[in-house]
Amino acid sequence: EIAQQAQQILSGMTLEEKVGQMTQYDWGYNPINPETGTSARELLLEEIRQGRVGSIFNVSGAEEANELQRLIQEHTQHRIPLLIGRDVIHGYKTVFPIPLAQASAWNPDLARRTAEAASRESMKDGVAWVFAPMIDISRDPRWGRIAESIGEDPLLTSAYAKAWVEGAQVQEGAGERTASCPKHYAAYGLAEAGRDYNTVDLSDRVLREVILPPFRAAVDAGALSIMASFNEVNGIPVCANSYLLKTILRDEWGFEGVVASDYNALQELIVHGVAADEEEACERSVLAGCDMDMHSGIYMRYLPKLVREGRVPESAIDESVRRILAVKIKLGLFEQPYINIQSGESAAADRAAFTELAREAAQQSIVLLRNEGQLLPLNKEGVKIAVIGPLADNKKDPLGCWAFDGKPEDVVSLLEGVRHAERSGASVLYAEGCAIDSEDESGIEAAVAIARQADVIVLALGESLEMSGESRSRTSLDLPGAQRKLAEAVAGAGKPVAAVLLSGRPLALPWLKEYASAIVQAWHLGVQSGNAIADVLFGDYNPSGRLPVTFPHNVGQVPIYYYRKKTGRPPGGVYSSYYIDSTTEPLYPFGYGLSYTAFEYGTITADRTSMTADEELTLTVAVTNAGERAGEETVQLYVRDEAASVTQPLKKLIGFRKLRLAPGESADVTFRVGADALAILDQHMNWTVEPGAFTMWIGPNASEGQSIRLQVEAKQMVRQ
Ligand code: IFM
Repeated sequence: EIAQQAQQILSGMTLEEKVGQMTQYDWGYNPINPETGTSARELLLEEIRQGRVGSIFNVSGAEEANELQRLIQEHTQHRIPLLIGRDVIHGYKTVFPIPLAQASAWNPDLARRTAEAASRESMKDGVAWVFAPMIDISRDPRWGRIAESIGEDPLLTSAYAKAWVEGAQVQEGAGERTASCPKHYAAYGLAEAGRDYNTVDLSDRVLREVILPPFRAAVDAGALSIMASFNEVNGIPVCANSYLLKTILRDEWGFEGVVASDYNALQELIVHGVAADEEEACERSVLAGCDMDMHSGIYMRYLPKLVREGRVPESAIDESVRRILAVKIKLGLFEQPYINIQSGESAAADRAAFTELAREAAQQSIVLLRNEGQLLPLNKEGVKIAVIGPLADNKKDPLGCWAFDGKPEDVVSLLEGVRHAERSGASVLYAEGCAIDSEDESGIEAAVAIARQADVIVLALGESLEMSGESRSRTSLDLPGAQRKLAEAVAGAGKPVAAVLLSGRPLALPWLKEYASAIVQAWHLGVQSGNAIADVLFGDYNPSGRLPVTFPHNVGQVPIYYYRKKTGRPPGGVYSSYYIDSTTEPLYPFGYGLSYTAFEYGTITADRTSMTADEELTLTVAVTNAGERAGEETVQLYVRDEAASVTQPLKKLIGFRKLRLAPGESADVTFRVGADALAILDQHMNWTVEPGAFTMWIGPNASEGQSIRLQVEAKQMVRQ
């Protein structure tokens, strides 16, 4: 029925109107032409009245959205509502933890809830299309956009991709009210040297084994659109890459949604050097399968001409427009293009619920990396705490990258969070010590002075929000500015130090353990940052986060990720694959995180030691909370195919379970392992379970755990 409705609208449209639907502009981009004195917005308004715009983004608020929709209703023949988009990356006005932090919760369902809350909040402002989730596998902490990702692992990212799409596409009545836009398809996270937008060259094997599974999961979860990335993949920029946009996405996966380009990416085909001019960029992109042009205006300028000259078949345009119209129909925009302006009371009630969720999400995002001598949790009563560091009395940076709808005044800073303990008898002293990114050491002395007066020091270090996100690559993974000097000086006061790291990426700080008995990875946690950090510091919440990405010792180890190959000469002595000046091991492995309680693993049992590939294996392990506090453990299952037709990673995550246990409580954790989990992309690029030995590990992270062997008897193809 939707297809029929779309076809009916399409059949009355002129070529220019059709191309208009394939055209999207940034409403927030508004320079004034010095020669004519006309603003970009004035020109855009005229385009909208002419029915030559299908989508806009960066509109601010419901009133503005309604005014723009009204122009369409009053001036255009077909009254096709605008699809209004926005980067709703980790919350809207209520800012949740950055995605890399949410990934640390190893709790896709939590992400489903934050994504839904963000869509519900933004849709009240007229946003029907959120440019999320970001599901680029990210193995390079130099890359600023690692903050927006789910980290390095295909299985974990796929689980989040599914949940995030389902949450972000708010369901009401007959169907979705908001569309998601998983991005950036594909391999944007593999930019060489971690430099944003850089060249990506990878094998089809890595593409299909590592990069594509999250996108496939997003498509299977019903994503209504996908964003084609800026980068080239093996010499062809994605917006001109029919292998990615047609062969894989449409032919192999059957994706029926809209493919939108990234910002100005069509124009960049010229800069990449695969199009001589805008006309050629237009032709390449539309023929490759890109339905919508984000902001370059190239489709509008050239597509009608190319169709009239017979260089682009009109059927290709019709197909793209049908898809775009189908999304607008599904979202109910034709029936209700306007937004009911929300009353202040109802907005405040929503806000209160979202803020509660923000605290829960922030708590679960925190990873305890070190806790020597059980320094944490801190006592509240009678304790004198020196809170020191540039991320302490700071309400801006915990918002993280891509939080332009969030307000610093809504953020609970770390200092405010810790100060709440004063109600329970703690006393809190504060000194900034130094700025985030300045070499000025003049504040360090005052910080040392309060450190001497205190019983314990909470040291808030890290990065500003501007240091991660798009176009924010770094070559250093150390603390910027004078922060290391601050840490050294403050530790010299001789009091125990709990360091809290607020950052958008893994930092390489092997030296920090010399100065801090406890290290808490708190990322950029959003509006409830300070409350959640205080909850962890004082033990009101027992930390449960696990790293979704490997932490290196130094930048020279990058890229370092657990899903690596053995090589013919694994590290160990000269003429092996090692460094003469550094360990090859990570500082903290993938999956790692501590708790205030201790979990013990029993012996793994298996219901068989050999199987045929169409059978299933059941693995069981008893996990016991052997400590004195309730806590959550994330039990992880990894596999290695010991001898296959193609070299295999040392370990591959194939399952995980997060469970909560009371003190003394035990639970049996069961994993069923079937062909899907054991299959590899064989030498003929078929997903196959090959006969032979497999090793499986169950444990608390990628570097620890008990193993068990399994013999697979016969080969089986899984899927093509
Ligand atoms: O959605 C983003 C994308 O992630 C990066 N370039 C700009 C787009 C729109 O803001």
